[in-house]
Amino acid sequence: MRNLISGWVWIPAVFLILVGATEYFIDSGNNFAFIEYPVLQLVLLVGLVFLIALDVILKAIQNVMFKSLSEDAKERYMRAREERLEKYDWKVLLRKMNSAKPISEERDIELDHNYDGIKELDNKLPPWWLYSFYASIVFAFGYMIYYHVLDGENQIMEFESEMMAAKIAVEEYKKNAPDLIDAESVTLLTEASDLEAGATVYQNNCMACHAADGGGGIGPNLTDEHWILGGGIKNVFHTVSEGGRAGKGMVAWKSILKPTEIQQVSSYILSLKGSAPANPKEAEGDVWTE
Ligand code: HEC
Repeated sequence: MRNLISGWVWIPAVFLILVGATEYFIDSGNNFAFIEYPVLQLVLLVGLVFLIALDVILKAIQNVMFKSLSEDAKERYMRAREERLEKYDWKVLLRKMNSAKPISEERDIELDHNYDGIKELDNKLPPWWLYSFYASIVFAFGYMIYYHVLDGENQIMEFESEMMAAKIAVEEYKKNAPDLIDAESVTLLTEASDLEAGATVYQNNCMACHAADGGGGIGPNLTDEHWILGGGIKNVFHTVSEGGRAGKGMVAWKSILKPTEIQQVSSYILSLKGSAPANPKEAEGDVWTE
């Protein structure tokens, strides 16, 4: 192998395979493995140095062995080497893959036909073409079996599943993005699922002070038309995320709840308007009109 492939070829090739292997075997998300895990860079560097050292050692061993040969054997070795090099000469390979008769020999393959002066040659099909043709037939079988027998993913299914994944990613992003909803941009939610989610947040965090039915306790009644800090989704969202007046006991929930949760619980509270709580606390604040 040393005779045919110089270090300039095989070292980068093996190195690339090494890098590819780290990429294949190590799960590194969207990044390259060696970027995600910088220690890999060191490992790969050591590997590269090792490959170079290997090349140097192999070359040295070969030199020593060559020197130990008799004159006769040396000559034979050189000749064999030359022949082998010739076999892999790209020009020879190219000629083989084309296998067309050179123009000077075309006379041998001319057919007898003569169509109004147009003659025909019986040239062989160029092997590069023939083999690509065979390869395409084999490929077609694989293709047909994958897509039409095994129901592999076609473009439309691929597109749909990617859009699906993107949609989930957007939802995920929205959940955690802090500034996506604020008191300015917030809207009242009316979907049953959102109100249900809001009710859950309410039961887990708010019930203790505002009563299970929103009738009030330590905190004010949330079901009447009176609001201390302003009604409507924007004011309520602001109160819940930033808290009530200092010292009154209503904390800023923005450090505990996500913006969507605050939006949901605020919408839930507003949906309680006009419901008749069991022990309503007397009204505080002013009647709120939009
Ligand atoms: C520790 C008790 C306590 C908890 C828990 C609590 N609140 Fe309050 N809440 C209060 C008090 C006290 C006020 C009155 C604040 C003020 O007067 O400034 C208040 C005021 C409010 C107001 C404004 C009412 C108005 O009339 O303007 C809203 C809306 C509100 N709370 C919603 C919530 C929500 C939603 C939760 C749960 C995420 C919650 N509260 C949890 C005690 C609490």
